[in-house]
Amino acid sequence: MNHTPHLFSSVQVGALTLPNRFAMAPMTRSRATNPETVPTDSVIKYYVQRASAGLIITEGSQVSAQGVGYINTPGIYTEEQVAGWKKVTDAVHAAGGRIFIQLWHVGRVSHPFFHNGELPVGPSAIKPEGAKAFTGQGFEDVPTPRALELSEIPGVVDQFRQAARNAKLAGFDGAEIHGANGYLLDQFIQDGSNQRTDEYGGSVENRARFTLEVVKAVVDELGADRVGIRLSPQGSSSIKDSDPVRTFSYVTEQLNQFNLAYLHVIEALPGHPMAQPSAPAVAAHLRKIFNGTFILNGGYTQETAEEALANNEADVIAFGVPFIANPDLVERFRSGAALNTPDPSTFYVPGDKGYIDYPSLQEQGVDLKEPVDYQNN
Ligand SMILES: Cc1cc2nc3c(=O)[nH]c(=O)nc-3n(C[C@H](O)[C@H](O)[C@H](O)COP(=O)(O)O)c2cc1C
Repeated sequence: MNHTPHLFSSVQVGALTLPNRFAMAPMTRSRATNPETVPTDSVIKYYVQRASAGLIITEGSQVSAQGVGYINTPGIYTEEQVAGWKKVTDAVHAAGGRIFIQLWHVGRVSHPFFHNGELPVGPSAIKPEGAKAFTGQGFEDVPTPRALELSEIPGVVDQFRQAARNAKLAGFDGAEIHGANGYLLDQFIQDGSNQRTDEYGGSVENRARFTLEVVKAVVDELGADRVGIRLSPQGSSSIKDSDPVRTFSYVTEQLNQFNLAYLHVIEALPGHPMAQPSAPAVAAHLRKIFNGTFILNGGYTQETAEEALANNEADVIAFGVPFIANPDLVERFRSGAALNTPDPSTFYVPGDKGYIDYPSLQEQGVDLKEPVDYQNN
């Protein structure tokens, strides 16, 4: 029988069978504090609380010291970081969950504070308009970066390769390459931030080259069925492409050669803070082009997520802020229970408040309705 997919139907994503179609979207929470860049016991608890998601995608985790742009974000390039993450993956697996790490290099969205006074790097010496870096001394303007030398690029690709190796050691089920939100891969792809005149700039083929080399390196380490990539083709106020449909269609066509576990696209629904009303719609084109699991994200509710799945716009929906405030989001949607209210003032600040103290339904003493076997619907 051919059932219409819905949030509670299982789905194969690369090597993994997800029990439902909820992905927890990657979210920086700035709690890697003790020591800096290493996940703490609170980080373990935070992800375990959310283990009923079909797939957890961790917060962006920098692949190298060069890739850092914010204080208290975790890394995946030292032994200590790997050991810290191993505790997280063991605990999530023991709780029945599945977890990918998001591999991140911020590129130009950084500050000399993080680099012994040196400039951050990007494809070209172009300042991201309006971008701010949080350095611990408050928000500071991001300076004009230094353009990477051609000879440095293989080394940056290797940072991702090593990070993928480390992700395997740390027990992750796979890795999501962060190609979205104006960070390094996106800076290479979009022509507003890439004016290189060598083989990494100019034509769309050249602008896609760095991303495809990173994908190949990570796939070499983990296997394609354990690698996803995230893109945000509509850009934002600080990153733009002159023809996003053409650019990202090309990138997606090229991604098809790898048979990746998934492509994860942010295209925020109207009214969402990340929505780009003046940008063309791109996700629907990419959905048609991509040959694997398609994850959509950006302001989805239970209702709009079910609509998107039923209309075959996506195979899985990623929820961000709803998972911050509702560790048991899956159960709340299943039972029709009310949602907790997120507190944006605690999104990025150290401490357990607003991190691991959002109650589950059970902790609120809510009587759950009988579980429904959605597999048979
Ligand atoms: C606190 C916070 C941190 C975020 N950090 C990341 C991140 O590390 N990597 C990333 O790709 N997106 C990040 N995002 C974007 C989210 O993954 C997601 O795209 C966005 O919240 C929209 O989805 P939602 O409406 O379901 O929350 C972050 C968003 C929030 C609210």
